[in-house]
Amino acid sequence: MADLKAHERVLAQHLELRNMLADIEAALTERADVLHVSGLIANLADRIVAHFTMEEQGGYFTEAMLHSPHLVNRANALMAQHPRLCDQASRVCEGPPSNGELELWWHETQRRFAEFCEALLEHEVREDRLLQEAYIRDIGSHD
Ligand SMILES: [Fe+2]
Ligand SMILES: [Fe+2]
Repeated sequence: MADLKAHERVLAQHLELRNMLADIEAALTERADVLHVSGLIANLADRIVAHFTMEEQGGYFTEAMLHSPHLVNRANALMAQHPRLCDQASRVCEGPPSNGELELWWHETQRRFAEFCEALLEHEVREDRLLQEAYIRDIGSHD
């Protein structure tokens, strides 16, 4: 049987990350407070580093996946995206706005955040699909 705990932990963290993205999106749309938004984005970047570390330390590798070279290759390709995504997350929010450049700061932060969201969500959806395939395959093999 697949290691459901690892599988479920990855999926639960994906949900948590999506909620964090939605909160940041809302805060950016409101443009309420630079420090608040900067803090949310810094928290997200930290959380992503921890999430990727968990995945790299075995979160993906269910027993079922280890029996399928095809799935292992896909898992390795996804993990190879982690350094670039971490780097992108750390560059979404570039310091406090300079004097008179508040509008530009919001605009650029929103733009970088939207680009990052797209890249991260694509990555996570592919992981969800991979885990689902490994899990379903494993259930099938035990019928
Ligand atoms: Fe990942
Ligand atoms: Fe993930």
